[in-house]
Amino acid sequence: MAIHNTAADHRLPRIAPPCGLVIFGITGDLARKKLLPAIYDLANRGLLHPAFALTGFSRRDWEKGDFEDFVRENVMKYARTKFNEETWETFAEGLRFVPGSFDEENGYRELMKTVHDLDKTRGTGGNHVFYLSVPPKFFGTVCEKLQATGLTEKEPGQFRRLIIEKPFGHDLESARELAHTLTGIVDEKDIFRIDHYLGKETVQNILATRFANAMFEPIWNANYVDHVQITMAETIGIGSRAGYYDGIGAARDVIQNHLLQLLALTAMEEPATFTPRDLRIEKEKVLASVRLPANLDKTTARGQYGPGWQGGEQVKGYLDEDGIPPDSTTDTFAALTLYIENRRWGGVPFYLRAGKRLGKRVTEIAVVFKKAIHMPFDEEATQELGQNALVMRIQPDEGVTLRFGAKVPGADLQVRDVTMDFGYGHAFTEDSPEAYERLIKDALTGDAPLFPHQNEVELAWKILDPVLAYWESQGQPEPYRPGTWGPPSAETMLGKRAWRLP
Ligand code: BG6
Repeated sequence: MAIHNTAADHRLPRIAPPCGLVIFGITGDLARKKLLPAIYDLANRGLLHPAFALTGFSRRDWEKGDFEDFVRENVMKYARTKFNEETWETFAEGLRFVPGSFDEENGYRELMKTVHDLDKTRGTGGNHVFYLSVPPKFFGTVCEKLQATGLTEKEPGQFRRLIIEKPFGHDLESARELAHTLTGIVDEKDIFRIDHYLGKETVQNILATRFANAMFEPIWNANYVDHVQITMAETIGIGSRAGYYDGIGAARDVIQNHLLQLLALTAMEEPATFTPRDLRIEKEKVLASVRLPANLDKTTARGQYGPGWQGGEQVKGYLDEDGIPPDSTTDTFAALTLYIENRRWGGVPFYLRAGKRLGKRVTEIAVVFKKAIHMPFDEEATQELGQNALVMRIQPDEGVTLRFGAKVPGADLQVRDVTMDFGYGHAFTEDSPEAYERLIKDALTGDAPLFPHQNEVELAWKILDPVLAYWESQGQPEPYRPGTWGPPSAETMLGKRAWRLP
């Protein structure tokens, strides 16, 4: 019988095939701070093919040398791994720059020449990926020009892929229109929608925690779980992102995608396998079972940060931020209550909240359990005992915390909450790769489990659209002070329950 060394083979990371990556919007913040460093880190980790080529497309009047300087500067500033001259030299040989504007065909024709030249001289093999790191209003234009200039045409065995960044529309209807535009130029399987939360190690760890262990899944249901809280809190304001953020707001910016993906991973059934299709089937099932409560006035909250102090610094209110209209009704805090109508979760509220200028930067999922049905102690003994909770700490203090009751040392029997902690920093010596490293490599390799499918995008809009419509009918969001946990209605929407203080 043949002996297969499969265990070792599985551990070998797959490297990306020979291909070129073209980034539209190369001078933007996302490209500078996240994409370029992540691509360089992949090269440094040996995960890119030696023939890999990166082409920047932008309106700048740059020569190749200017582009190289630009990439090098941002890589040195933001990359996770140590700068290595040898990696840089090979990497820099594959850099190209094409000046052009999104709406003029000339630039795309130049790009076509560059792509052909890369196939001939660098060995990119006719495989090309187009990364649309551009404001959504340009998605349609870039797609149309890519197609009109023949850039999406390929020979059998070659690939053309699109990577796009959210927002994937601003409601269900526009999300469908966008999908129509994208599938007009490449197949659905060649569209990679980035939800960078899915690239985070701690988010993938939700699956390991739930499905690689025996002890959590039996209690992961309405018999034992009282409610679930998903929090994504940021201390920053909108900074220089007025153009992107205003009119979008917290719910569209992060609940529609990141938080609903976290909910899906937390609540879904075990997938048959971890292939993109099987994972998607389970996520879609759970998203399709989500129901909003009838009384949105009492079960949701919407806020906008006012001026104040945060961390010893005086900060502007949202309406005073540069580029924000003085009567903007954009939400910088949003919270929802959702129910999942299936046998596992019937009656268990899922509370989701996200906001800027809150008390602390933290993203976590807290599964809060019911109290024990019987406690053989004096009432005073358990007065300080809260509810058991399993908290999956997504960031910044990555790990998992289990909260439960323990006896306080002493002659009396007193029970109090204690915690048991797993922290990535303590348990593993290796740093976690950045989300964008994982996602870019997967898109180049054609590996799709960590990318939301159009169906998931649409289901998420179906959940959110009625809430957005209700909020729109309500005028101005409630103001809240920076450094707090949102407007007063965020507290009252939980009824007799309370948000955890992360
Ligand atoms: C992005 C949002 O998707 O996530 C931003 O558009 C937000 O508004 C950012 O600041 C937060 O990302 P992270 O990885 O720091 O939690």
